[in-house]
Amino acid sequence: MYRTKTCGELRISDCGSTVTLAGWVQRSRKMGGMTFVDLRDRYGITQIVFNEEYDAELCARANHLGREYVIQIVGKVSERESKNKNLPTGEIEIIAEKLTVLNESLTPPFTIEENSDGGDDIRMKYRYLDLRRSNVRENIELRHRMTMEVRRYLDSKGFLEIETPMLIGSTPEGARDFVVPSRMNPGQFYALPQSPQTLKQLLMVAGMDRYFQIVKCFRDEDLRADRQPEFTQIDCEMSFVQQEDVIQLFEGMAKHLFRELRGVEIEGDFPRIAWADAMRLYGSDKPDTRFGMEFVELMDVLKGTGEFSVFNDAAYIGGICAKGQAVYTRKQIDQLTDFVKRPQIGAKGMVYARVQEDGSVKSSVDKFYTPEVLENLKNAMGAEAGDLILILSGDDIMKTRKQLCELRLEMGSRMGLRDKNKFSLLWVVDFPMFEWSEEEGRLMAMHHPFTHPKTEDIPLLDTDPAAVRADAYDMVCNGVEVGGGSIRIYDQALQARMFEILGFTPEKAQEQFGFLMNAFKYGAPPHGGLAYGLDRWVSLFAGLDSIRDCIAFPKNNSGRDVMLDAPGSIDQKQLDELCLSLNLPTE
Ligand code: AMO
Repeated sequence: MYRTKTCGELRISDCGSTVTLAGWVQRSRKMGGMTFVDLRDRYGITQIVFNEEYDAELCARANHLGREYVIQIVGKVSERESKNKNLPTGEIEIIAEKLTVLNESLTPPFTIEENSDGGDDIRMKYRYLDLRRSNVRENIELRHRMTMEVRRYLDSKGFLEIETPMLIGSTPEGARDFVVPSRMNPGQFYALPQSPQTLKQLLMVAGMDRYFQIVKCFRDEDLRADRQPEFTQIDCEMSFVQQEDVIQLFEGMAKHLFRELRGVEIEGDFPRIAWADAMRLYGSDKPDTRFGMEFVELMDVLKGTGEFSVFNDAAYIGGICAKGQAVYTRKQIDQLTDFVKRPQIGAKGMVYARVQEDGSVKSSVDKFYTPEVLENLKNAMGAEAGDLILILSGDDIMKTRKQLCELRLEMGSRMGLRDKNKFSLLWVVDFPMFEWSEEEGRLMAMHHPFTHPKTEDIPLLDTDPAAVRADAYDMVCNGVEVGGGSIRIYDQALQARMFEILGFTPEKAQEQFGFLMNAFKYGAPPHGGLAYGLDRWVSLFAGLDSIRDCIAFPKNNSGRDVMLDAPGSIDQKQLDELCLSLNLPTE
């Protein structure tokens, strides 16, 4: 037996007992004739003491221990003289009697402590060392507990966990596929699933009634803090349900996770907001509702009411009111202007108005407007003395709203309104069925082509498809889309009509989704579902800035695994077997 106890479990009540511990040397300190070693394993840290007076030879060996050596210690638990209140084992120490070095270690390239001195790149290259740090390990532990709770909740609701294949054909989630060449079928490729969407629908046709899977999904898309090329979904589907049934069940799951993992009881139903209202008030389909600062549209107030041509030419003028921020200096305002003008945001400029102590308005466009118009602005914004009004305008409504959304979030952060320990959840519902793609020059499904239109909007499919709303819903927490789903089409004629609107010829639809359309000919039940992003849930609960930190072996922003040095080249023999040749760009 390598150990009788872990490094996290000994307490004052264990004093006097002889124990065997095994773990890694976190650090060692020599103080006079004593050497103190912090021994670490997954469960905690225990202090080991070597005393020259008791055993000079043992102490001399301890003085040669390096960081991250793997050792085994036999010794007696004894009460510490100077106790460490910050450590669960801080009241005791082990007086070492025997030391076995199980393995030596090179000096690690960064300190394996909560606040490591290692930068991102080096920590990712040596991720197995990074994972030894308690804060990183805790994220992995939280992830484990979350998947356990998910399984417990869904099992209690009658869901079956069913695996679906990874080597499949293209799935329609809107990103690029990762493809895998098939040796046995030269010139042909599998696609890794962007989600198990079509397969879970087939499981409903198969009568499984309630399915779930904690499953890897693969999407070749531009990466962000909350996106990885391979990520994990809690993927679910249910038969004989309407939108309300799905929303209730998965709201229940969110509450269950908050209760079990954060000790937070969420009372009442989550608010629901129609997509159009979310865009109007927050410029986003995933609004951060931890704070207000909703948009106020100012077209009536500022367009054509003064000489400011920028506003007079605008298709949209909108403002936010930052409470109590009239104290913003010229320099701070300039910083904000630079912020919205950054290429990623793309605003042309920003107008501000301060409400002064006497209630009058002082604005960067004063000279173009009468005091009455500025007074109207103040009233429209609901602004009071001491408030700062920030205004953006543009010739594209949606683009300008998105810019204003960034400004609102920036102000929310600056004003400390985005507390990571506060959670604000809501459902965004009534999404448009389609969105126009400039790139493709056609309507695209906003969710995916199997999403059911709102029954009352079905007649609009023929007259005004862009106005059709879908039975689709997203769950949003603190400005992060943590899940999304929809009620599916199960009627063959409606599905065929949908493909037609999306620009598929019947042949193309048959080629790509024939397996699903054929299955629907054999009695498809009404069904719907949802997928939660597991990585996003864990990172929200752990208060992380990036989902990378809750993934054991994540990819970097260029989609590389720097530890495995993947992706990499393959040799000519493999290419030949796959009948592939490379045509690389010359640059
Ligand atoms: P959707 O594409 O909305 O829906 O994905 C569901 C949830 O998965 C998470 N997510 C991601 N997380 C990390 N990195 C990514 N690249 C990434 N992409 C998505 C989000 C998102 O809400 N088949 C449908 C679900 C359904 O209709 O049932 C689907 O995949 O949290």
